[in-house]
Amino acid sequence: MKIVLAADHGGFELKEIIKENLLQAGRDVIDVGCDSSDSVDYPDFADKAVACMLTGDCQRGILVCGTGIGMSIAANRHRQIRAANCFDIGTAKLSREHNNANVLCLGARVLDKDTAIQMVSAWLETEFSGGRHQVRVAKFSD
Ligand code: RB5
Repeated sequence: MKIVLAADHGGFELKEIIKENLLQAGRDVIDVGCDSSDSVDYPDFADKAVACMLTGDCQRGILVCGTGIGMSIAANRHRQIRAANCFDIGTAKLSREHNNANVLCLGARVLDKDTAIQMVSAWLETEFSGGRHQVRVAKFSD
């Protein structure tokens, strides 16, 4: 599984921490920016990450902005993307089990770093439950 990472300036620092953590865990990661805390527009980086997923190059995405809200709105404009803006380990797991989320959105200004790292691990390790959830997901997703 290849994971694409993206952030705006609000999420840059947390993205770097997540990237380091994933690389240490031996995960296959692509970072499409941003590359500093200079102000940028989150839709541009959501689109870069989504592009990596639509080509099939990456199967999962992790998008970080100040709140996770802007990234999730931008990413969810694409029918193949199921982006979940999660707030704790429980919602991160449920976004996989019930929603088959292929993108995790995180808010760097509303989460502490340890929680965010634990959320990423839980999200990557949790499988989709399928069954009745597959029927529901199929109604809005390709
Ligand atoms: C940037 O200041 C901030 O608006 C952005 O990171 C994000 O929180 C938007 O949803």
